[in-house]
Amino acid sequence: MDQSNPSPHERPVPEHHGLVPLHGDLLARDPRHVYEALRRRWGAMAPVEIGPGVGAWLVLGYQEVLELVWNEQAFSSDARRWSAIAEGSLPGDSPLSAVLGWRPALDRLDDEAHGRQRQVVTDTLNGIDLRRLRGAVRQQADALLDGWDMNGTADLVTQYARPLVWYAFRVLIGLPGPGERTLAALLGSITGGAHDAARAEAELMGTMRRLVAEKRETPGPDLTSWLLAHATHLTEDEVAHNLASILRSGGESTIGWIIGTMRLLLGDARLGSAMATGRLTVTDVTDRALWDGSPVPNIAGRWARDDIDFAGCRVRAGDLLIPCLAAAHADLLVHSSHDVGTRAHLAWGTGSHGCPAKEVARSIVETAVDVLLSRLSPVRSVVSDPDLRWQPALWRGTPDELPVTFPPPDPMAATAAPVTTHTVMGVPEKRQEERAADSGPTVQRWGWWNSMNGW
Ligand code: HEM
Repeated sequence: MDQSNPSPHERPVPEHHGLVPLHGDLLARDPRHVYEALRRRWGAMAPVEIGPGVGAWLVLGYQEVLELVWNEQAFSSDARRWSAIAEGSLPGDSPLSAVLGWRPALDRLDDEAHGRQRQVVTDTLNGIDLRRLRGAVRQQADALLDGWDMNGTADLVTQYARPLVWYAFRVLIGLPGPGERTLAALLGSITGGAHDAARAEAELMGTMRRLVAEKRETPGPDLTSWLLAHATHLTEDEVAHNLASILRSGGESTIGWIIGTMRLLLGDARLGSAMATGRLTVTDVTDRALWDGSPVPNIAGRWARDDIDFAGCRVRAGDLLIPCLAAAHADLLVHSSHDVGTRAHLAWGTGSHGCPAKEVARSIVETAVDVLLSRLSPVRSVVSDPDLRWQPALWRGTPDELPVTFPPPDPMAATAAPVTTHTVMGVPEKRQEERAADSGPTVQRWGWWNSMNGW
């Protein structure tokens, strides 16, 4: 990419009192072009306004994003340091609080407090049986496609990726059906920065607290029960907050990864034919979407611990800095060449807060893409990529819709088996033995589990 030759989709970036307002319609088309324009105008870091009167630094350079995320001595994940709160420029009911606010969960803690909760969440996520998860996602994907009016058109965001991913999360956390609709609506408002995001966040926490109380009484084969049973003994409030963090961090990003992969495939017929001839696999294409698709365009914040010179700017203690992964990837591509499949991308974050659920997300995304391609081929886009509409949101890497056409299916083709209730967690006893062999003394007690039906 040539720095002196802007993309045709780039528009001039407005400024307001020296800050670029990112809370208006600026992000209502593919936001990657906006981030790219900001990087051209400002270099490694841009002063932005993310809500009325709320300033932040958007960090756009690849090296600078790496340093911001790695240097935990200088930059904290603890939102209680945020000067906007101390100075009163952030209203209590601001939609920004739903994502950036403090909570007693792993993504908003530093150092030992983070390590303690991270261990519980990682142990619990490692208990997911990925083979069963893939099976559950495949069945639900088939059931969704069976439910479509097969007139040859559909929207892959609202009719496929979103209901499928929230179904997977509902099963993972043990929420009864049709809880996926509740999750989709609440997390949609929260990550979309909607005007009612603070209300949605309160409702989400209410739902998580009720779920935790129910699972305390009646444990099941799900993440909620496993979090509660962990020998570290998180409080019920901590478990509820960590569940909400898992949903906030994982849901829209997984939807974005499915849709980013499909946008790549729809935009480049060569990828589809390379897959058809076996030169590329679904994994190759989903990997490439981690670069180009920006499932997480921006990481939800770091706060400067002290005054510091960073990326050529004077940053004050308590300033919010937002690592912009979409821009960092473009920056690296400008300054070096890369091959599809390289792991230098930052899509999972990095450092001690890096995503602990890569293989879980991969299982959902690869299965979703595989089912779609095997049942709806050839699938074609209805709207050209630059014309897709986006809800202006910093935390979302998905357009509002991705309409496609496809040939009507063969009426004689087999349809999906009815969806059964799924268990997607592994067998605790087996895991206990494995962990004992791997890492010395076992810390978990699973006595209650043995009495569960089906094990
Ligand atoms: C099943 C799906 C997923 C789950 C359960 C999940 C869960 C989480 C959790 C709990 C964290 C916080 C870790 C911490 O603060 O220590 C996290 C961080 C992160 N996740 Fe995921 N995630 C999922 C999918 C994804 C996907 C698909 C992507 C993008 C491709 C992604 C990108 C990230 C990034 C960039 C961070 C780092 C945030 C930071 O540094 O503050 N995640 N994820």
